[in-house]
Amino acid sequence: AAAGTIARSLLAWYDRQARVLPWRAPPGERPQAYHVWLSEIMLQQTTVAAVKPYFEAFLDRWPTVADLAAADQEAVLTAWAGLGYYARARNLHRCAQVISEQHAGVFPQTVAALRELPGIGPYTAAAIAAIAFDQPEAPVDGNIERVISRLFAIETELPQAKPDIQAYMQGLVPRERPGDFAQAMMDLGAGICQPARPRCMLCPLQESCAGRAKGIAESLPRKAAK
Ligand code: ADE
Repeated sequence: AAAGTIARSLLAWYDRQARVLPWRAPPGERPQAYHVWLSEIMLQQTTVAAVKPYFEAFLDRWPTVADLAAADQEAVLTAWAGLGYYARARNLHRCAQVISEQHAGVFPQTVAALRELPGIGPYTAAAIAAIAFDQPEAPVDGNIERVISRLFAIETELPQAKPDIQAYMQGLVPRERPGDFAQAMMDLGAGICQPARPRCMLCPLQESCAGRAKGIAESLPRKAAK
């Protein structure tokens, strides 16, 4: 199916089925970059269920990026305890300080400028640009890798397939609502296009899915033997 058809079907599904998550804005509104950034850093290597209470506790205590920048590093690390990977928390605090001191407390909006910040790699930069600023960027996490591999029946093994997957995802990003599109892909991967048992009968993209048509969806993505 054409990219526009896929994006439209997915967004219509998202309008009905989007998970309600504390870092998402109400329909039609854009979430604050601070919220998007904080959630995306917390969600690296940590599940949505585990992140929720931490996200809310951080916002209660540090409602703005300036508040977080002004916090003691010790306090941030203590509040982070339980999420693991403490380098993330140290980078989080440093990033808040750089935004406060060098960007007047305002998040930059482009991928290139976001990439300059501590702890922000290609995925996180694309996620913030798309979700907070509606730029046509394509964040690709593990869930999206799986969805795209199946949708386009990509049989090349990971990690070799990564550039292809990124390119296919980029080709689907709609000019309208790129942030919702990215989050819809994440929700599809988490709830429908699951690793072991994809629930294709419930999938809004079932008719466009090359992996399903070939009967190989479950076996994708292929992974190089370790
Ligand atoms: N995983 C990473 N980012 C996410 C988001 N914005 N919504 C849901 N799951 C995610």
